Amino acid sequence: MTRILVYTGKGGVGKTSVAAATALACADLGYRTIVMSTDLAHSLGDAFDLELGPTPREIAPNLWAQESDVFFNVSRYWGRIQEYAASVLRWRGLDEVMAEEMTVLPGMDEVGSLLWIADHHDSGDYDVVVVDAAPTGETLRLLSLPEAAKWWMEKVEPIGRKITKLTGPLIQRMVGMPMPNDAVFNAGEELFRRLEHMHALLTDHAKTSVRVVLTLEQVVIKEAQRSFTYFHLYNYPTDLVVANRILPDDVGTYFRGWYDAQQRYGPLVEKMFHPIPVRTAPFFDREMVGIDLLREMATSLYGGTDPTQFFYRGRPYAVARDDDGFVVSVALPFTDKDSISLSRHADELVIDLGTWRRTLVLPRILVNAPTKGASFTDGTLKIRFGTPAQSKENST
Ligand SMILES: Nc1ncnc2c1ncn2[C@@H]1O[C@H](COP(=O)(O)OP(=O)(O)OP(=O)(O)O)[C@@H](O)[C@H]1O
Ligand SMILES: [Mg+2]
Repeated sequence: MTRILVYTGKGGVGKTSVAAATALACADLGYRTIVMSTDLAHSLGDAFDLELGPTPREIAPNLWAQESDVFFNVSRYWGRIQEYAASVLRWRGLDEVMAEEMTVLPGMDEVGSLLWIADHHDSGDYDVVVVDAAPTGETLRLLSLPEAAKWWMEKVEPIGRKITKLTGPLIQRMVGMPMPNDAVFNAGEELFRRLEHMHALLTDHAKTSVRVVLTLEQVVIKEAQRSFTYFHLYNYPTDLVVANRILPDDVGTYFRGWYDAQQRYGPLVEKMFHPIPVRTAPFFDREMVGIDLLREMATSLYGGTDPTQFFYRGRPYAVARDDDGFVVSVALPFTDKDSISLSRHADELVIDLGTWRRTLVLPRILVNAPTKGASFTDGTLKIRFGTPAQSKENST
């Protein structure tokens, strides 16, 4: 089985260094390991001090590395859709080169690199896939995409296909605009299937861990908390927080202020993220470049233990039975009652949290069960359902 470790966190906190160090530790333990970056800034190569390309390159025993490359990924997964988009843009009078550039939509590139995770998982070539993910905001947006895509696929796409079939030739004749043909829709479907597969892997609690890297600074911790909420909302398994750049006790007077702040924030972070454990790496006196230094970082993080272990196992989403029905619990740490809103559409429960939306498809047993209310305490949202049979009794 392939283990998937995703490292994310605010910009500049050390995601790339920690991912590289972790991959090295895995390879040292004998796991066939690939480390890849979904970030377009080519920093993974900088960390190893090597030139990396868009396909895996062996850089140490058991260790392969890969950077994402926007045009490579896009043509690999987006060929047909992109062709169609380009043909529309050309029709609008944009020249060929511009049209090509324009079809590299924001987000597409990172999605392309996320899809690599599924490829590496399926290939059977690797025991561990370590992902140096883009800063949290980006990563979250991408991780929520498959769910949105699924909704679109099921509800909108069949209609779109039908309409295009009926009116496509007509529109094309009348206004000359190229209409998407079945090949475009098929490519779209294939893409969504891949997204779904990736989504299934990344939410698989037996395979994946999303780990948050932070530094002991107020704004960084805040963002880490927020991302934690969303990981729970979307059911992405999290098992570890990495606190990076911890100043040593003999910092001297110049860094005293930073040191004191870290001493304060350290225990706070432990408490906030409990029961998820926190591991630390020191502030090194050099840039984290090259295998030797990365290995040193790995030792301080994992102390020779296996980075692929599950540091914590827990499910943020649970369905339990009680006396008068069922309770669906969703752990949503670091949020408050007022920012949550709930609605229900047949077999779907929609949770809105600020600008984020999660559609929970209810288990079969709850599809006909009436919703009886909801409460939010201690970071857990509880939604009560009556039993379907009981609801019938009540209504007669
Ligand atoms: N523990 C550490 N001690 C000293 N330097 C560090 C440490 N961790 C990271 N660095 C250095 O800090 C810089 C940023 O680290 P890194 O590139 O790993 O962060 P990142 O979170 O991936 O950044 P970005 O969001 O820009 O991708 C790099 O120059 C790296 O070498
Ligand atoms: Mg980075």
